[in-house]
Amino acid sequence: RLHPGARTHVAAIDQGTTSTRCMIFDRRGRMIAVAQHEHHPSFPRPGWAEQDAAEIWLNTLRVLPEALAQAGLQPFELAAVGIANQRETTIVWDRATGRPVAPAITWQDTRTSAMVEELNRGPSAALFREVCGLAPAGYFAAPRLRWLLDHVPDLQRRARLGEVAFGTVESWLIWNLTGGPDGGVHVTDVTNASRTMLMDIRTLQWDQRLLDALDIPREVLPEIRPNAQVYGTCAVGLPGVPIGGAFGDQQAALFGQTCFAAGEAKCTYGTGAFLLMNTGDRITTSEHGLISTVAYALDDQPPRYASEGSIAVAGALVQWFRDSLEMIHSAPEIETLARRVEDNGGCYIVPAFAGLFAPRWQPDARGVVVGLTSFVTRSHLARAVLEATAWQTAEVVEAMVADTGLPFTGLKVDGGMTANHLLMQYVADVLAIPVERPLVAESVSLGAAYAAGLAVGFWPDLEGLRDNWHRAARWEPTMSEALRRRERSGWDRAVERTLGWVV
Ligand code: G3P
Repeated sequence: RLHPGARTHVAAIDQGTTSTRCMIFDRRGRMIAVAQHEHHPSFPRPGWAEQDAAEIWLNTLRVLPEALAQAGLQPFELAAVGIANQRETTIVWDRATGRPVAPAITWQDTRTSAMVEELNRGPSAALFREVCGLAPAGYFAAPRLRWLLDHVPDLQRRARLGEVAFGTVESWLIWNLTGGPDGGVHVTDVTNASRTMLMDIRTLQWDQRLLDALDIPREVLPEIRPNAQVYGTCAVGLPGVPIGGAFGDQQAALFGQTCFAAGEAKCTYGTGAFLLMNTGDRITTSEHGLISTVAYALDDQPPRYASEGSIAVAGALVQWFRDSLEMIHSAPEIETLARRVEDNGGCYIVPAFAGLFAPRWQPDARGVVVGLTSFVTRSHLARAVLEATAWQTAEVVEAMVADTGLPFTGLKVDGGMTANHLLMQYVADVLAIPVERPLVAESVSLGAAYAAGLAVGFWPDLEGLRDNWHRAARWEPTMSEALRRRERSGWDRAVERTLGWVV
C-alpha cells in the first residue's frame, strides 16, 4: 500500500431479506471483498413472515471481520461504513438489555391486513395519503408496530415510558454498532422513515396526527436523519469507523446506479423487485398504483423524491421453486432448466404469495399456477417462474409511463437475478426496450458506500460518482409484437385468477 494507515476504502452493510452482507469498495467504486451469511426466516402461520433480529445482528458481527480479512484491511483503513437494509421490517427492543421483545415482523408479513382495511375505511386514510405519500397497506412498518404494541404484554405502557425502542433494520444495526445499551445512537434515515406511514414526506419529521391515528407513542421512535451524515462511531464490529450513512436498500440501489437526475430509473431484482424513478423535487401522486417515497436527502440539501413500483415476489419465487418444490438445487440452475424448452408450454405462475403489490395492491390475492396440461414439464414451470418477474416489471413500467407521460427508453437493472441472462432477455423483450446492467451489479451496497463516503469527504460530490458507472451487459428486445401480445394476454388472464382468493 502506498500510504500505510490511510483511509483507502469504504465498507457497506447490506442487510437484506434473506442475508446480511458486507462489501468493501475502493475509491473508484470497485468491490474488492464480500462476505455473506443467510439468516433463518420463519413462517409460523400462513401469511406471517418473521426473522430473528438477534440473529441478524450476530450475522452482521460475523460478516464485518470476514470482509476485512478478505480485503486484507484493518478497521482504521476504512473511511466510513454505510448501511442499506430490507425496508419496513419492524423491530422493537428493550433499551436496557438490548434484547428484541418479539421476532422482527418482515415486510412480507400480511398479519395486519384486517387492521389496515379498517384504517382505509376510516376518516384518516386520506390524511395518510396526503401526509406520508402512502395509501395505508400492510406492507409498511407502522401497522406492524401497532400489532406488536397490541400483542406483546405491557408493551404499550413500556413504550410510553421510553423503555423500548422501535426501528427498522438500519436503526437496530446502528444502535448496536454504536454501543447498544451503552450509549447506542437511536436514529433512522429519511428513506426508511418514509416507509413507516408515520413521516411527513415534505417536512421529513414524524407527524403527530399520523402517530395519534395509530396511537403510537413518540418515545419509541428514532430520530430521523439525512442519508449521508455521520451518525456516530462504531464501538464494536468496526471499532473506530464512522457510520456515514444509511439507506433503505431500494433507494440505495437508485443512488448506487447514480440515478441522480429526474427521470432516471432502475429496477433491483432481489427477494422482491423494486423499480424506482427519480422525480427530483416533485412528489408525484400516482393514479396507477405507485408509491411516492424519498429518494435521498443529503446533509443540508432539500430532499429528492422517487416514484416506486414495488413487486413483492421475484427472487423469492425462485427460492420457493428451489426450497419448497425442490425442483432445483441452486438458484442459478433455473436458467439451465428453463433453457431446455422454447417457451412456457402454456403455463403461467403468478406469485401473489403476500397478495399483489404494485400496481394492483390486492391483499386478498393468492398465487396461481395455470394452464397445466400433461405436456408441461419442470422446464416449462422454470420458464413460467422467470417470466412472472418480467411481466410484473412490465406492469410497473406501464404504470410509471401512465403516471408521468414519459416513455421509458431503457432500464438500468441490478441485483442477484441479473446474473440470469434468460430472465434479463425476457425483461427486455416484454418491455420492448434495452436493459443495461452495470459492472458492479451490487448497487444496493454501492449506494450505501457512496452515502457514507460522501459524508466523510472520501468522495467529493455526486458528479464524480457517475464516472464509476460502467456498463457490463446490455440486452436488446427481440420478441415480435404479436408474440408479446399473446403472452401478455396469457399473463393477464392468469392474474385475474389470483384476485379475491382470500375471503
Ligand atoms: O421493501 C422491501 C425491500 O426493501 C426488500 O428488498 O432486496 O430484500 O428484496 P430485498
